[in-house]
Amino acid sequence: MTFRSEADAERLAGLDASALLAQLGCPAGEIGVAVGDLMERVNAALIGASYSKLGLEAGEHILEAGLGNGGHIASVLARASRLTFTGIDISPTMIAAARSRNSAFAERGQVTLEIASVASLPFPDAAFDKAIAVNAVYFWPELTAGLREMRRVLRESGVLVIAAMTPEASLTMPFTEHGFKVYGPTSLREACFEAGFDRVQIERYADAPSAPATPRREFFLVRASRMSRGMSEECR
Ligand SMILES: C[S@@+](CC[C@H](N)C(=O)[O-])C[C@H]1O[C@@H](n2cnc3c(N)ncnc32)[C@H](O)[C@@H]1O
Repeated sequence: MTFRSEADAERLAGLDASALLAQLGCPAGEIGVAVGDLMERVNAALIGASYSKLGLEAGEHILEAGLGNGGHIASVLARASRLTFTGIDISPTMIAAARSRNSAFAERGQVTLEIASVASLPFPDAAFDKAIAVNAVYFWPELTAGLREMRRVLRESGVLVIAAMTPEASLTMPFTEHGFKVYGPTSLREACFEAGFDRVQIERYADAPSAPATPRREFFLVRASRMSRGMSEECR
């Protein structure tokens, strides 16, 4: 396993699986910083695939919920011209890390980072063109309510992408014993419709093992959108 720094490696060396899993829902303190760095590295390919699914276009406003340490933001902004990025996370440690890594973008007004929960997003209706949450729905207090909040802040015909491990993949570690909520495709699809999206596509994505002898991880990539009024009745 490779870490961003030796200090990260030392902080995580003594951590057993249950302490690591407990940190994933809200990384905190020095260990939280190291966990954020680990997630950045291990989840880089998944985050890239999820953003490809989102299909960013010039000038769009993006919201990411549960963004972790924000190490990926520069590569997101490079995907199209004139993008602006807003990230929220319940973890003050992750927001501090993301702010320090993206201060130049923040000074230019291209990046905004806030401590907030998906349960109550501090943004007006229809503020964003695209929204995304990677490896985050497991911790949301309520899936449909979180999706409804994400839809509320999306403009009409805005797009949401959710990346979440499959129930089969969740068996590789005691995720559910540590409070992770893992959803099958039917639950994800129904929750999206209930939250007011009217187009939902779900595909499976498997990423390469991050280290030898590590199991291949499989995720659902959910792409949900809401067509503009008028179209939705004819084209459902
Ligand atoms: C497993 S980490 C994933 C981080 C990053 N997206 C990735 O894939 O590497 C989950 C993140 O979601 C955040 N989180 C948990 N509950 C949340 C909530 N209700 N609202 C917003 N963020 C939340 C955690 O603090 C954590 O940073």
